[in-house]
Amino acid sequence: MEKVKLAIIYYSSTGTNYQLARWAEEGAKEAGAEVRVLKVNELAPQSAIDSSPAWKATSEATKDVPIVSNEDLEWADAYIFSTPTRYGNVSSQMKQFIDTTGKIWAEGKLVNKVVSAMSSAGNAHGGQEATVKSLYTTMMHWGAIIVPPGYTDKSIYVAGGNPYGTTVTVDQQGNMVEDVKEAVKHQAKRTVMVAEWIKKGRQ
Ligand SMILES: Cc1cc2nc3c(=O)[nH]c(=O)nc-3n(C[C@H](O)[C@H](O)[C@H](O)COP(=O)(O)O)c2cc1C
Repeated sequence: MEKVKLAIIYYSSTGTNYQLARWAEEGAKEAGAEVRVLKVNELAPQSAIDSSPAWKATSEATKDVPIVSNEDLEWADAYIFSTPTRYGNVSSQMKQFIDTTGKIWAEGKLVNKVVSAMSSAGNAHGGQEATVKSLYTTMMHWGAIIVPPGYTDKSIYVAGGNPYGTTVTVDQQGNMVEDVKEAVKHQAKRTVMVAEWIKKGRQ
């Protein structure tokens, strides 16, 4: 059987979600997937980016990461989305990309894609779960198959115990508070595993 194709689609101002995306890539590759790590287009003006050293550094460090397109969504069997929490919700950059999918949604091309989501926030109770569930609401409209981590691995407890999707708290210095690497890798592997079951079942 050909490999499961996974698109990891993220937005990140200060690097957290980029790191989550890279860890997800690591897990998915270990699970045998063909992976594309893709960023959504930045919408903020350059002046806003330049006003934050961390934002500027992340923008420069990720300048060669390809920008996601609808073609990537058609290509992949499975998607993992990762976005910072913004006022308890998905970042506008991520939402803007999602809102360009109308044509392929209408053509039925997002049906039965296997999806999972991750997020980060400045506060443990600052809306991380709401952000993940907000992404899942969109994916229900797609007819996608949502694969939450649940409590399927010990790493999820270490990461703070979010069964909806791995999320991490970021402190004032931009450091991750919880140790989430293994939970991210597990989530990616589980997403690939379910995508593989579905791919096999459809052959
Ligand atoms: C405009 C804005 C809104 C934010 N809203 C929230 C929020 O509702 N709850 C929270 O805990 N953190 C909030 N934060 C903090 C971000 O979630 C945090 O900086 C982000 O998760 C870091 O991810 P990144 O490094 O990938 O950009 C907000 C930050 C910004 C700039």
